[in-house]
Amino acid sequence: MKRRKFIGISVSTLAIYAFPSCENNNNNNPTPNPRKLLKDNNLFIPEKVSFIEDNNGVKQYDFTIEEREHNFYSDYKSKTFGMNQSYLGETLFLRDGDKVSINYTNKLNEKTTMHGHGMHVPANMDGAVHQIIQPNESWSAIYTVNQKACTNWNHPHLMGKTAEHVYKGLAALIVVEDDESDELDLPKDYGVNDIPLIVQDRRFDDNYQLIYNPSNSDIMHGFRGDILIVNGQIEPSISVKAGLLRFRILNGSNGSMYKFSFDNNLEFYQIAGDNSFLNKPVKLTSLLLSPSERAEIVIDLKDKKNKQVIFKVYETIDRRNFTVLTINVNNETSKLILPTKLTENEEIDLDKVSEYKIREFILNGSGNMGNPELTINGKTMMKDRIDEKVTLNTTEIWHIENDMGMDHNFHIHATHFRIYKRDGKVDNVSENEKGFKDCVYLPGGSTVDLIVKMIDYSDEDGKYMYHCHFLEHEDAGMMGQFVVLPEDKN
Ligand code: C2O
Ligand code: CU
Ligand code: CU
Repeated sequence: MKRRKFIGISVSTLAIYAFPSCENNNNNNPTPNPRKLLKDNNLFIPEKVSFIEDNNGVKQYDFTIEEREHNFYSDYKSKTFGMNQSYLGETLFLRDGDKVSINYTNKLNEKTTMHGHGMHVPANMDGAVHQIIQPNESWSAIYTVNQKACTNWNHPHLMGKTAEHVYKGLAALIVVEDDESDELDLPKDYGVNDIPLIVQDRRFDDNYQLIYNPSNSDIMHGFRGDILIVNGQIEPSISVKAGLLRFRILNGSNGSMYKFSFDNNLEFYQIAGDNSFLNKPVKLTSLLLSPSERAEIVIDLKDKKNKQVIFKVYETIDRRNFTVLTINVNNETSKLILPTKLTENEEIDLDKVSEYKIREFILNGSGNMGNPELTINGKTMMKDRIDEKVTLNTTEIWHIENDMGMDHNFHIHATHFRIYKRDGKVDNVSENEKGFKDCVYLPGGSTVDLIVKMIDYSDEDGKYMYHCHFLEHEDAGMMGQFVVLPEDKN
């Protein structure tokens, strides 16, 4: 097969080279200036969703999805969507082994869906393309939590509308806890030293309203904004004790690549990736997250009493710098010490790998700026088509190839995979991506090999998705579907 390869050409050159007629307008700055930030700019922490345990021992959680108004700026209300709050949603705290019913009521004037990204659930509880919630109707995700401690998230997944619905505010964290996370001596006081950070960027018009009007160029390159927002706030700050501070970071943007760091290149530790702890904390000075990826990090601020530390981000596609959070360290001390061992993720059995079936996924696009189409294996998403049939309890290698010059990533529903190789080499996989993951970043022209095994749930008719999680790409067709067949159905 002959494929276009653009390795070695820089992303920006390529964008122009590959799509000569399209002008990247992401650098226009539509957001009004000067801007008045909120007077109380302490970081907003979403409430924990409350629950009622019913007679069957099922914990019932309720979300109302509705149009709201939100103060990104002082004195100006912006129209948004929210879940139990004015923008974004309350945080779900779930525990491995719990029986739960998460009930979503759609009060919007349009249909949507609500997907538990990273949740290991049966296909009919996935809340993705097929579990549509009509206006004034409810849908419940009912299942037994069955996975390791991690940070996941809720977001809509309506075909062609995911990007817009997330952009308007529908995203919320899901924290999964288990016996292992209970045992670990980590910061876990939610909102105090265990801080959720949903990081996004937005464009605002002169009336302080969110702009979502992706041009064909935005669809090809991802829709990015010139204003960074964190938990729905611009340049918030937080006051903390001198000691260990934990962030649960979600890149909740539509199409931005975020590289996080602290000022003065302070060292910090990544303790968890998408779906599990890392075996031990990995020391970093910067951390790259593509859309939908999560990381839990810990920084030790014991020497920063009465000092200010800035957490910042560099968006690598538009090359913009932003402040994420100003951390004011007070004069109290906390005495937690970072554990040296976190978990034991099973080793990839290198001797067995050659026996695994290989499945190929090629990410590509038409480059037609009049009607941008993005494809996986030459096809755009179709709701009624099953692209892949996977057998339960069978380990496979999913070989993903980004045949374009621009960034993509690859997310798989239902399962938690391991990254086996990057660009054909085991050694290219960095320490901080060696845990269980559900989304992997693919720079232009790169490949990854994933170790994938579907476990626990099979359903011949229950479609799960795999897709690029740059939301404009997903909506432009870069998505496919698979079913998990029981072992004897082969
Ligand atoms: Cu974040 Cu198909 O999902
Ligand atoms: Cu998902
Ligand atoms: Cu993409």
